[in-house]
Amino acid sequence: MTTSILETKPMTSEQLILAETDGAVGVITLNRPKVLNALNPELMHQLAEQMEAFDHDESIYVIVLAGSERAFAAGADIGDMADRSTIEMYMRDQFATWERVKKIKKPIVAAVSGFALGGGCELMMHCDVIIASDTSQIGQPEINLGVMPGAGGTQRLTKAIGKAQAMDVILTGRFLSATEALDAGLVSRVVPVEHFFTEALKVAKKMATKGPIALRLAKEAVLKAHEMHLSEGLEYERKLFYILFATEDQKEGMHAFMEKRKPEFKGK
Ligand code: HXC
Repeated sequence: MTTSILETKPMTSEQLILAETDGAVGVITLNRPKVLNALNPELMHQLAEQMEAFDHDESIYVIVLAGSERAFAAGADIGDMADRSTIEMYMRDQFATWERVKKIKKPIVAAVSGFALGGGCELMMHCDVIIASDTSQIGQPEINLGVMPGAGGTQRLTKAIGKAQAMDVILTGRFLSATEALDAGLVSRVVPVEHFFTEALKVAKKMATKGPIALRLAKEAVLKAHEMHLSEGLEYERKLFYILFATEDQKEGMHAFMEKRKPEFKGK
């Protein structure tokens, strides 16, 4: 069988991700258990499509992205890349799909357990709140394959945990334990493995009780902290803060506080 170098679209209808909803939370589960959720272009395409579908769905406020207990994702699919040439890798432009995930506006909660390696760690870092099980092993072991991170690992990991620790992880290929990742600021919370998914869902549901416009704008502002200098970032934050005074949710939130009742946000 010959494979087109422009092949970026799914070739099968196999469900490499599963999607369901729980109230205002959209849940996506990676579904390639036999290869520890290795991320091939087909899986990434299905993931981007589903994330965008949830992002456009007005009834969904927060997205959960989960792997299995054994693996969030053990990286990009090595078998899919092993014999590709530079031109093939360049022309298939697989990072265009990752850009689609980066552009999701609603908050994404990652439910991480087991291996989050290479592209798996990079996908985890595309999420906003990361709930990790105490069995998590997180790293960028591309160096063992004669390559290096390509979906943001050198940049996002360095911003998350600092140069010295990022160099250690990327240049030695060693895995961080869940507690090391927590101490380094790479994950948000560590929980017992049996609760990793339910805790992530609980966090997402709690977030989903907040005003959805405020959630989106707060996510946008925090992400700008990676890209802007402090004074520009502060200016950006201030503008988003002012914008929220045009929402009904701001009036509802502040009046509910004064009236000592729970707010009922409408996303307006
Ligand atoms: C393809 C993978 C895979 C991967 C695991 N498998 N990781 N297949 N791509 N990234 C497959 C194995 O081949 C094996 O298939 C099955 O999953 C179970 O894995 P085992 O190795 O048998 O399990 P275990 O001994 O528990 O070891 C787990 C592991 C190891 C430590 C996670 O599998 C591993 O080192 N995987 C590779 C991790 C890695 O290097 N990731 C970075 C990839 S490069 P069979 O058929 O034998 O049962 C990358 C670049 C990103 O991510 C660039 C941007 C896209």
